[in-house]
Amino acid sequence: MAQTTRAASIFSDPALKRHLFYETSHSPALVDLVGYENARQIVDFCFIANPYYPTPEMLADLQHNLPSLIKSYPSSSSLSSQQNLAAVLHVNPQNLIIGNGATELIVLINTLLIDRIAVPIPTFGEYIEKLKDQRDAELYVLDPDRRYELRLPDYFDWVHQHNVKAALVINPGNPTGQFLPLDAMIDFLQRATDLELVIVDESFIDFAGDPIPTLLPFADRFSNLLIVRSMSKHCGVPGLRLGYCYSANLYLLNRLRRFIPTWNLNTLAQYFVSLLPSTDAAYHEGRKRLIGDVRWLQTALAAIPAIDVYPTGANFVLFKITNGMTAPDLQMRLLEEHRMYVRDCSNKVGMDQLHIRVAAQGREKDARLAEALRVLLQ
Ligand SMILES: Cc1ncc(COP(=O)(O)O)c(C=O)c1O
Repeated sequence: MAQTTRAASIFSDPALKRHLFYETSHSPALVDLVGYENARQIVDFCFIANPYYPTPEMLADLQHNLPSLIKSYPSSSSLSSQQNLAAVLHVNPQNLIIGNGATELIVLINTLLIDRIAVPIPTFGEYIEKLKDQRDAELYVLDPDRRYELRLPDYFDWVHQHNVKAALVINPGNPTGQFLPLDAMIDFLQRATDLELVIVDESFIDFAGDPIPTLLPFADRFSNLLIVRSMSKHCGVPGLRLGYCYSANLYLLNRLRRFIPTWNLNTLAQYFVSLLPSTDAAYHEGRKRLIGDVRWLQTALAAIPAIDVYPTGANFVLFKITNGMTAPDLQMRLLEEHRMYVRDCSNKVGMDQLHIRVAAQGREKDARLAEALRVLLQ
């Protein structure tokens, strides 16, 4: 009872800033919706971040170093961060660019390297919204009746029919979670050598299997390939703003590098990257644990009759509501009645009003989410 009263005081208007849902194609941050204090009382299944990394020891280390990091300027050379990252990715540091989140790199790629680009939709909005002109995106509309599944051979034919010279593939897809196996991706790239640029966003690939089915070890074969990855998701640090891109093509990378702001990585982010090599074993342990959690969450959600759960290779699950309730309604009821924040996907271009995306947040929280959904949808 005490809990219900507290929930009502947090979410009664004007405390919950509902208008924010209509002002952006991204989900509003919890702190914007309800303030810093209240945000702590809500479980965030909306933003996607690995709950098992950084480890508690790493967080304590960051905390311990925070005062001196805040009072220092970051390194103006990204080389040592590139070396630390390259050590865990087993790639050449020269072929990496680290950005202030993958979003910084996506904006640069879109504005510097792209005239027209094929984009399967629904997708992560920045790939369309941050083009020089949004009409430069040739939208390849995925079919809701086929669970928005991307079929690479059909996409390849469509790109060529439309005479587009750049193409995007997000693998696993966001928001669908669809995983395209490595051999299918390599086959696509082998056929697509006439394209000027193929962007493969692998922000969620670390959760697609073990060993990780990434294109990184094969990237040197394809000079038109640019791999983009957000560290928010797989390293669990959305607030630090870290992401990277990798290509064998140094000319392509140099065109981007010229426009990377000096000090684009802050000191806390650089310090975090310096911890990657010594904590790599813990990272992979957490990664595999999370893969198990996602399988568990999928099964728990699939047991709820009023939803259709989509297959996923990412650390989140997309589902469709089948009992007539809409995604915005379900999102609001979870927030107000259960203090759980999920992603209503209805503002994504090409998506209907019936899809919710939830990021796995560890077995105990995931179980609470499944139970809340069962109650709300019965
Ligand atoms: C597919 C994909 N790429 C890139 C990003 C950008 O991530 P960030 O800027 O936090 O690194 C996101 C964020 O949701 C995403 O879903």
